[in-house]
Amino acid sequence: MPIPQENMKILFTRERIAEEIKRIGQEISADYPQGNILLVGVLKGSFLFIADLIREITTPSMVDFVRLASYGSDTQSSGIIEFRKELEMPIRDRDVIIIEDIVDSGYTLECLFNKLLLQEPRSLKICTLIDKRSRREVEIEADYIGMTMDDGFIIGYGLDYDEHYRNLPDIYTVEGF
Ligand code: IMP
Ligand code: MG
Repeated sequence: MPIPQENMKILFTRERIAEEIKRIGQEISADYPQGNILLVGVLKGSFLFIADLIREITTPSMVDFVRLASYGSDTQSSGIIEFRKELEMPIRDRDVIIIEDIVDSGYTLECLFNKLLLQEPRSLKICTLIDKRSRREVEIEADYIGMTMDDGFIIGYGLDYDEHYRNLPDIYTVEGF
């Protein structure tokens, strides 16, 4: 069901998103001057973020993807995570950064983080475009954070509601959730 226009309000403009991504790109470039980092994008939500971020990173980097799905309703994570696509590149002794669109309860990230740790990367960090802090149910912190927000459901710039709205260039809050 489409979301009525009057229920959508801009939370982060495309300009703000670009600014924060530029800043994170500079932070990552400074933290890994030796290069050879591997960015692991979490599909599908992070596809725009990782595309923009990697172009702001000046240090040599590579990309791989995992696809995770968490069961539950459209707007609530259940904590049961399914891996639908595994990493294709070996990460042992590599500097790895997980690239997420949003950390909400934290279940998805905790599950992925622990799974990747088992493969013994040299370092493993987390980068998220949005940190929904007040919703956290497990203790997990991102090392690089674009924007923070409290509660509410958001769409746009990769984030979906029932697979729709990922293409919106700005990020909107949706009322009534
Ligand atoms: P978590 O396991 O509860 O942290 O859920 C994380 C995943 O749920 C994210 O990677 C998103 O795919 C999805 N998600 C969480 N909050 C939102 C939101 O506000 N809008 C769209 N997707 C969301
Ligand atoms: Mg996601």
